[in-house]
Amino acid sequence: MKAIEIRNKYLNFFKKHGHSIIPSAPVIPENDPSVLFNTAGMQPLVPYLLGQKHPSGTRLTDYQKCIRTVDIDEVGDNRHLTYFEMLGNWSLGDYFKEESIEMSYEFLTKELNIPAEKISVTCFKGDEDCPRDEVSYETWKKVGIPEERIYFFGKDDNWWIAGEEGPCGADTEMFYDTGKPKCSPECNPSCDCGKYIEIWNNVFMEFYKDKNGYSKLKQQNVDTGLGLERMAMILQGKETPFETELFSPVMKELEKLQKIDIIESRRIVAEHLRSSIMIINDGGRPSNVDSGYILRRLLRRMTRHLNKLEIDLDKLPEIIDISIDAIKEMYPELLDRKENIKKVIIDEKDKFIKTLKNGEREFEKVANRAKNSGKKVIETQAVFNLYETYGFPPEMTEELAKEQNLEVDMKDYQKLFKEHQEKSRLGSEQKFKGGLASTGEMEIKYHTATHLLNAALKVVLGDHVHQKGSNITPERMRFDFSHNAKMTDDEKKQVEDLVNKWISDKLDVTVEEMPKEEAIKTGAECMFIEKYPDIVTVYSIGNISKELCGGPHVKNTGDLGHFKIKKEEASSAGVRRIKAILE
Ligand code: ALA
Repeated sequence: MKAIEIRNKYLNFFKKHGHSIIPSAPVIPENDPSVLFNTAGMQPLVPYLLGQKHPSGTRLTDYQKCIRTVDIDEVGDNRHLTYFEMLGNWSLGDYFKEESIEMSYEFLTKELNIPAEKISVTCFKGDEDCPRDEVSYETWKKVGIPEERIYFFGKDDNWWIAGEEGPCGADTEMFYDTGKPKCSPECNPSCDCGKYIEIWNNVFMEFYKDKNGYSKLKQQNVDTGLGLERMAMILQGKETPFETELFSPVMKELEKLQKIDIIESRRIVAEHLRSSIMIINDGGRPSNVDSGYILRRLLRRMTRHLNKLEIDLDKLPEIIDISIDAIKEMYPELLDRKENIKKVIIDEKDKFIKTLKNGEREFEKVANRAKNSGKKVIETQAVFNLYETYGFPPEMTEELAKEQNLEVDMKDYQKLFKEHQEKSRLGSEQKFKGGLASTGEMEIKYHTATHLLNAALKVVLGDHVHQKGSNITPERMRFDFSHNAKMTDDEKKQVEDLVNKWISDKLDVTVEEMPKEEAIKTGAECMFIEKYPDIVTVYSIGNISKELCGGPHVKNTGDLGHFKIKKEEASSAGVRRIKAILE
């Protein structure tokens, strides 16, 4: 069964059981700065798990696009993926353990036709925070799982929380028995040997954990997650997800193009490429921070492994086409953005290969220096230089080091990196302050115009646009923003027209004070979040713009005059600069 068929069966099955199908959130969370990516289907639903009413009701189902990067270094083996799709169903204070287990069992055995004897399950064995899960145990027996295939484990295996704080609870997990022999007499579903593959996790979320421990939530929820790629692999009788239709066309192409045969490198290329496509599709762009940095790491690691396979990098556009082709049925939205996605990937590859060869040479020197002096650890300053000068993410240097039995002290690296970051942050704060130092009448107008421009760029170019800096004089405004390509004349015209429309709409500019956290939750734009005090002022222009900002601003956009872009140019990597005037 193809992945798309499994997804459709899943959503329809839960729809039949009274669930509303809700859309997947983007991989980069929209209003949650605490995480870089959505790592589970429940993440965008946290407010509803905590008790807020969901507009679609108390039974929900969806497919969620997820990125998990903790295991990024494991990609290349036969199972780890950084991007995956999680099928999920939720009860928001509606059904609980019994109904949830009954539905899961019915779906696995009746819809996917997995033989019942292939299924083993695990339940929570109980501790001081939460008693042993007898209800799940009894329900599993009732539906037909014999006692000997029901296992009990503690929090390490049968408790689920995203991170350190949040809604959580005991879970019951379902495993598929591959039929391989047990690796030892004790071998059971918690064993990693590959005999048992986890296929579904039903979390009974009735607690909230914070620094002070566990407390009961207002309602008893169910949160489940089924990994689609893994299920496709099982149902297709494959050993790895790379042999399913989601990856096999790319894997075959890489095999055709390679001069050196390294299966791990083929998997890394295929996997990182797919993740990158999905991140870029949801507005991600390579950068040196946050999700942009992860994307950069994925793309650079992919490039290095294309090199290891000795594949001509000019073939990358075709490889991207094949990769998108393999998943276009699942994500038809990729087709509209295909050229844009390709451009982002190829630009980043181009940027990186300029320094890759020299960087590798530099790395060899550094590695030899360590070896010659009998050291196992590469100097941290050298790791830093490799990043600053040659664009080698430290994790890549670490990977190169491992290949030569050397190490990188990542803790030491983080320390050094923070010191440098602090220095440059102080520098850019200085610059930012400079931008608004004197505020005469014209400066105030220009200041309001930057907010309009920021909002217009988002409409025309996309949500990835964020302000990166500004500078205002009584004669003109300068505005830097994240975007990867030169703006076309048409785009510039659209932006101008939009700003001028908002000016002629005579929109009111209003200001309110609120706690910083709340401001961020409302989706207000801001530049250096750590720079703002706990209580912030938020300026809104009609309903088209909302930004954290110290002001001052005009009272109504009608005061601004006519807006005109004089110049659009590159400012630094991934950042464009607009110079504009008010006439
Ligand atoms: N949130 C649960 C998981 O990610 C279902 O496993």
